[in-house]
Amino acid sequence: MKRNKEEEEDEDPSMTQELQKQTQAHYDQYPFIEGGPNRIAWWREYLRDFLPDSSLRDRLVVDIGSGIGEIARGLADRGARMVCVDVSRQSLARCREINPEADIYHGTALSLPFMDNTFDCLICIGVLHHTPDCRKGFREASRVLAPGGIFVLFLYNWWNVYNAIYHAFKPVRTLMPLERVPRFVVRLLQPFAKKHLGQPLDDWQLRRLLGDKLWTPQASFHSIRQIRRWGMEEGLTMTGYKRFYLGYANVMKLVKNGAAENGGHRRVRVRCARWGQGPMTRNEATYACTCGHSYLLKEGIWGCMPE
Ligand SMILES: C[S@@+](CC[C@H](N)C(=O)[O-])C[C@H]1O[C@@H](n2cnc3c(N)ncnc32)[C@H](O)[C@@H]1O
Repeated sequence: MKRNKEEEEDEDPSMTQELQKQTQAHYDQYPFIEGGPNRIAWWREYLRDFLPDSSLRDRLVVDIGSGIGEIARGLADRGARMVCVDVSRQSLARCREINPEADIYHGTALSLPFMDNTFDCLICIGVLHHTPDCRKGFREASRVLAPGGIFVLFLYNWWNVYNAIYHAFKPVRTLMPLERVPRFVVRLLQPFAKKHLGQPLDDWQLRRLLGDKLWTPQASFHSIRQIRRWGMEEGLTMTGYKRFYLGYANVMKLVKNGAAENGGHRRVRVRCARWGQGPMTRNEATYACTCGHSYLLKEGIWGCMPE
């Protein structure tokens, strides 16, 4: 099996950028699936034991790689004040509709536009393994989480046959674009969707699911042991984990060491993702940095991608 990215030599930054662009383009064209009320309810209940009501009510919670925001919706319904970030603007346009009260940022998990210790809780479900540098994304997530804060992380499982399948599949995804995959192949995923989501998906949704599982430009795989070690390196303690459906992923709960302060009254504090300075000053539709850089609110989404 291919070794994980973070165990290898440093990547060429231009390759990393290129990979990130490809991933962004992929999810702009094929946002992750929209399951509607069933999927929102499923995730709302699934996360309950890792995120009890007391950790969410009136707390500032960020969903990194929110996609179209169905998981964020479930947490908002339980009383969380949600902030969503994603690299795909198309996904965020739908997230805006599903989460009218959330703060939404177009940005990358690898350079988050937030100050240190900003959030009470953080979720990152099925995202960091699609970035060119999962380790860096983990460090960023740990940085923006406040002491005592809960981090729920979903990552593909190193010890699962899916690891081998994803890598063996590379020649197919290179030769055949997702839009050319025949409909009958796409429909082979229907039993998986029905069993896991408890509902059938239409062909367009199934193609989005297939895209995420096999056509996405990047996927890395990680063991619980490795994430526990990363946690220790970043000052977080793993306090629990669950195997996800068929064991292809792990969902882990980490807590940032240190006592929680100011819980429940935090405000979003934004920093310049280009220079790391902040907090930036917010006006109605602008965040301004002393370096001259600014973020603009357009159609309800803050533009925070470094150029
Ligand atoms: C499998 S989807 C998961 C979406 C959502 N968390 C969910 O489970 O419904 C992966 C998401 O990660 C986003 N993503 C990929 N690379 C990213 C990055 N570097 N920064 C932020 N988001 C990223 C994609 O745009 C996509 O929306």
